[in-house]
Amino acid sequence: MATAPASTFLPRSPWARGVAAVALLLSLGLLAFGAWTVFAPQAPPLIGGAFSLTDQFGKTRTDADFRGQFLLVFFGFTHCPDVCPVELQTLSDAMDQLGPAAGKVTPLFITVDPARDTPEVMKQYVANFHPRIVALTGSVADVAAVAKAYRVYYARQTGGTASNNDADYIMNHSAIVYLMGPDGRFVSHFDPGTSAATMADALRKLL
Ligand code: NI
Repeated sequence: MATAPASTFLPRSPWARGVAAVALLLSLGLLAFGAWTVFAPQAPPLIGGAFSLTDQFGKTRTDADFRGQFLLVFFGFTHCPDVCPVELQTLSDAMDQLGPAAGKVTPLFITVDPARDTPEVMKQYVANFHPRIVALTGSVADVAAVAKAYRVYYARQTGGTASNNDADYIMNHSAIVYLMGPDGRFVSHFDPGTSAATMADALRKLL
């Protein structure tokens, strides 16, 4: 019975040693990459950004005006039959539940329907909800830019009973509430239908 000499298990030629060294380095590289993907800080999602819009009092407001505040950013339109009033009521209830801490939070209601949502229309509409809500409108281009920054989809509904002359047209729009930090950066989001208590709890942990 013959036993193989130990040297059998070691690469004997320089070429084989080279291959072994490359394999070892590749393995170490993969391990390092794996550790990096697990432990490296995640880049913040690219949501949010600069804007310059007009509030319900006719005053120009930019994103910089709200530094130091947590923002609850919601896009919609005042003629919305269901989703927007429900979400704005939820935001209002969450603000009420926060009590005095709500002073560090500003809900922004940004219209996706600037053709109808003038500052005056926005003012009358948001008067039905929490007094800290800032309603924002602007030019078609300005609204398109801020919606793009927040990855918000919106489009005027076509077909069905709606016609281009119908003043009661509907805007389809995404209804996510974005939570932005005092530095203007994205913190989290709330899906449509999230309860006021859930929002208030999430905010309380940050305030
Ligand atoms: Ni809506």
